[in-house]
Amino acid sequence: MSASNINHDTNDLDRIHSAVKREKLDLPAGNEAAPMWAIFIAMVVAVLAGSHLGMMSKPLSIESKATFAPVPDPRPSSTGGADNLDPFALAMKKGASAYAVCGGCHQGTGMGVPGQFPPLAGSEYVTGGTERLIRIALSGLQGPITVKGAGYNTPGGMPPQGMALGDQDIANVLTYVRNSFGNEGPMVTKEMVTKVRGTITGHPAQWTAAELEEFAKKNVPGDIPAGPGATGAPAAK
Ligand code: HEC
Repeated sequence: MSASNINHDTNDLDRIHSAVKREKLDLPAGNEAAPMWAIFIAMVVAVLAGSHLGMMSKPLSIESKATFAPVPDPRPSSTGGADNLDPFALAMKKGASAYAVCGGCHQGTGMGVPGQFPPLAGSEYVTGGTERLIRIALSGLQGPITVKGAGYNTPGGMPPQGMALGDQDIANVLTYVRNSFGNEGPMVTKEMVTKVRGTITGHPAQWTAAELEEFAKKNVPGDIPAGPGATGAPAAK
């Protein structure tokens, strides 16, 4: 390729480019770009008009004339919405949820499992003296036992519940089992459970039914709140 050829090509390119640059885009009338000075004037007018409008109009008032009535807090309170429940109803409500611990063996119906877990429904251990019942709940039970005429002797027996459940929980769940499944019995209070727990600290193992026979009819002394649950009569609904 010779030098003259290159020059020829370059000149050609220049020629084509300058022709393109020369020719104006053929836009239809009215679609041409607005001239720069017109855009500038429009901006000046917009700024002046805007500030004039701002000066003429009343300043915005941020004071509010509205008064607000206090709106009740719809969230459940820390007592789980139980503020209006009497002591017995509250114990029944909390006992019902704590009963999940017992229900795994004694069943949700309180009927137990034949040959394996004795029933709480209609059991003399449940509706009888509170001393024996609280002792069973706290430390558990093992060895042969007869409930409602049927014998049980499940290996391992009933594990103690007094480690997982506090005195108030035990009181609630025992009030619940004494007043569910057709049972009726006065409330068991936290103070009663605390009293029994204090007297059995020297007993490390599960009870046997024979050991507890002497407490079969003994009730732990203590005040029961007046109202439903104070006696063995069915709670007013
Ligand atoms: C792991 C299974 C298991 C759990 C959990 C359990 N129990 Fe028992 N319970 C038993 C067994 C087994 C016996 C019988 C023990 C024996 O043979 O001496 C028994 C006996 C009893 C008795 C005396 C007999 C009767 O049926 O009335 C009571 C009262 C009782 N349990 C209440 C409770 C309560 C209340 C809870 C919950 C706080 C509870 N149990 C949790 C297995 C369980």
